[in-house]
Amino acid sequence: MQRLRTQVAIVGAGPSGLMLGHLLHLHGIDSVIVENRSQEYVVERVRAGVLEQGAVDLMRDAGVGARLAREGLRHSGVYIAFSGRRHHIDMEELTGGRAITVYGQNEVVKDLIDARAASGRPLHFGASDVAVHDIDREHPRVTFRLGDDEHELTCDFVAGCDGFHGICRPAIPPTRLQTYQRDYPFAWLGILADAAPSSDELVYSLHERGFALFSMRSPRVTRLYLQCAIDEDLDNWSDDRIWSELKTRLRTSDGWEPNEGPITQKGVTPMRSFVAEPMREGRLFLAGDAAHIVPPTGAKGLNLAMADVWRLGSALASYYKSADVRGLETYSDRGIRRTWRAQRFSWWMTSMLHRSDSENPFDYKRQIAELDYLVSSRAAMTSLAENYVGTAFD
Ligand code: APR
Ligand code: PHB
Repeated sequence: MQRLRTQVAIVGAGPSGLMLGHLLHLHGIDSVIVENRSQEYVVERVRAGVLEQGAVDLMRDAGVGARLAREGLRHSGVYIAFSGRRHHIDMEELTGGRAITVYGQNEVVKDLIDARAASGRPLHFGASDVAVHDIDREHPRVTFRLGDDEHELTCDFVAGCDGFHGICRPAIPPTRLQTYQRDYPFAWLGILADAAPSSDELVYSLHERGFALFSMRSPRVTRLYLQCAIDEDLDNWSDDRIWSELKTRLRTSDGWEPNEGPITQKGVTPMRSFVAEPMREGRLFLAGDAAHIVPPTGAKGLNLAMADVWRLGSALASYYKSADVRGLETYSDRGIRRTWRAQRFSWWMTSMLHRSDSENPFDYKRQIAELDYLVSSRAAMTSLAENYVGTAFD
């Protein structure tokens, strides 16, 4: 058994765990990151790709924003399409200069892994049997195996950054945790294609046949999604069928449609809203997907995670610098407030833009009326824009 000591044990090397480790490093605080998957898996996993202004600023201020500044695609607006027409929402003008940046989550992860390596602080991939103990004692422990070697990591705090299926949230006694969940009766089929994006901004579309989204990753790679059944079998979706369905749902009467190209990746993403309260139990703090899941329509998952670890990093810094526990004590309440704001927005975007079997013609007409109001009212567009670009981290 190898016994190790650190200040903060971080479980999970997704964007939350890696960014937290980096912020702590900048404050001179020691951490060990323990991840059960391999480095290749974590880096290759294709996820969302929209960064709010606050997340971009955080990357830059933390000294990990150089490649993001070079390769990220800044979008000052977004299109909403329905009834054969695309409508532009100028988010930058409506929010006094805020915008989003398109940059794949796996690129964020790569940049943060590089920063971790440069810091020389430990990051263990491929750990098994990861477990947390004594979260209500002064010195919690995280145990894990690396190959045949058992490790026991004693720490001051545990950061549960291990995503929705992790082991940290279940370490909180059920009587101390309240969870809220909503599942949606549909999923997204997502693809990456080697095709130049045919629009310079995202297009969210509601079509009679269901939702579709046009996005991108680079000047040569298009990312596209279409609403599908929860249990959709990818084997039923040939490349031709995918393109035909995407074009049907996205094409507008001015002739705009996505460019076709070889499909390099396909996957089905489930849709879920989930909140765990509180985000803290004793010396265990949950961050990111371990504490909350939003449906991808509002592009908030990664951004909520970044806001969590920014708050947690600042709170731990105040604790170690001046024994100030206020940040740690308010971490959960501040996070829950932001989470519910994002939940409300993501649920609203999702229900406005998707069709479900349980709806009737009235519901579709109502959705179209809502979209029509959205794109013709400056107040409604401002509401979408300020939520989409995100509020300052608090
Ligand atoms: N032990 C160690 N690591 C674990 C364990 C475990 N028992 N269980 C899960 N993990 C790891 C996962 O392999 C993953 O790499 O924790 C990491 C959690 O990363 P994410 O799921 O990416 O969650 P988070 O870092 O909070 O990032 C949130 O991810 O799902 C997207 O849309 C979401 O963009 C958001 C972001
Ligand atoms: C993406 O580019 O992957 C993406 C964009 C916007 C969303 C969700 C995903 O709302």
